[in-house]
Amino acid sequence: MKQKLVSCFVAMSMCGFLIPFPSADNMSMSNPVIKNNSDNKTHTSDNSTDNSLLIDNNTPVQISVREDTKFLKEKFGSCFSVGTCVSPHELDTGSEFILNHFNSITPENELKPDTILNQQASELYGNNVNTQVFFNDNVRKTLKFCEDNNIPLRGHTFVWHSQTPDWFFKENFRYDGADVTPEIMNQRLENFIKNTFELLATDFPNLKVYAYDVCNELFENNGGGFRKPGSNNLSMGKSYWTKIYSDDSFVINAFTYARKYAPKDCKLYINDFNEYIPAKTNDIYNMAMKLKDLGLIDGIGMQSHLDTSYPDIKTYENALNKFISTGLDVQITELDITCTDFAVQGKYFKDIFTLAAKNAEHISSFTLWGTHDSISWRNYSNPLLFGANYSEKEAYKQVMSITNADIK
Ligand code: G3I
Repeated sequence: MKQKLVSCFVAMSMCGFLIPFPSADNMSMSNPVIKNNSDNKTHTSDNSTDNSLLIDNNTPVQISVREDTKFLKEKFGSCFSVGTCVSPHELDTGSEFILNHFNSITPENELKPDTILNQQASELYGNNVNTQVFFNDNVRKTLKFCEDNNIPLRGHTFVWHSQTPDWFFKENFRYDGADVTPEIMNQRLENFIKNTFELLATDFPNLKVYAYDVCNELFENNGGGFRKPGSNNLSMGKSYWTKIYSDDSFVINAFTYARKYAPKDCKLYINDFNEYIPAKTNDIYNMAMKLKDLGLIDGIGMQSHLDTSYPDIKTYENALNKFISTGLDVQITELDITCTDFAVQGKYFKDIFTLAAKNAEHISSFTLWGTHDSISWRNYSNPLLFGANYSEKEAYKQVMSITNADIK
């Protein structure tokens, strides 16, 4: 294990964002029955062995899996919503498939800072702090698809070291400006979050944004706390946020602003990868507890970019249990599992879904990072449930074979 972690850190320091061993290679048809709110998802009695949830009308429902359906969202309909990330181009051919299987969508890249921040408009606004945002046609395509089909959306993301332009942190929103002060950046951050939620509400009034990754990938992998200061665009893995701020106030402020401007039923998450590495689990846990004490956070997102060789299910379970112990909601936000052997991958997918279903009272949403292998960001190692043309892989069959006896 120690040797594996060392090689993982070496790979990460070379490439910035990397997963360990990257080379190893009819409940409701539209909306989840269970509320996606951690507040509404509680034990039905003081006896926590009671494996049940409350549904919208406060009727207790037993957590179970359906054994008579071929669709993921129906299979796990009483456990959690089942989501996928979506890129707009997939909607041309894959919309029926997506509607059949999923009742949550995360835009894969379309709500990231580099897509929605508007440099020219921010500079032209002229007061150095009113960050302007816009949605291009691609962004609108995904948002409209969710709105038209009543699919609740996971927003992703505001504060991130990656896919964020350097001009956002510089005077007059210009690449040639000096770095701004934390006081200026606070105002920019507030306006970024405010203007994004306002644009969502104005242009997509019927879209339900039920969760948002307020902060993404804040931490080093080895328990070293926040990312090192710098520009990720110049030196991969560094963070401009920690270059501007010398403490955690940007995280606390981001959640404060998100709480202020997000729809009231939109839950707020801290989201990270390699979250199962124990030292990193601790950093995420500590930040989440601080935010919880301030009443600013609803949950923790486990990205869950896994490989069949690491981590093992027990290591993953330990992290899940630690996050559950915060009392916050947990969401699995970006699951994929790279592999060299489809049978081994199938077993691992089954183990993860089974573990999540067993803990469904603490997990409101379970998202796969894509529908099929050919369009995955890790397409070189076939990390998803479906293959080309949405063909059913062993992994899909294994997941659909989960029985109620398995999740007891
Ligand atoms: O849109 C441009 C296109 O104009 C250009 O021609 C092309 C050339 O490379 O690039 C296109 O942008 C790519 C973008 O995806 C849209 O397809 C970027 O190069 C590519 O780097 C980007 O990758 C995304 C990656 O985040 C970037 O960090 C992946 O699609 C996306 O799946 C991935 O998602 C992240 C989560 O947000 C956070 N957790 C990790 C996860 C995987 O890296």
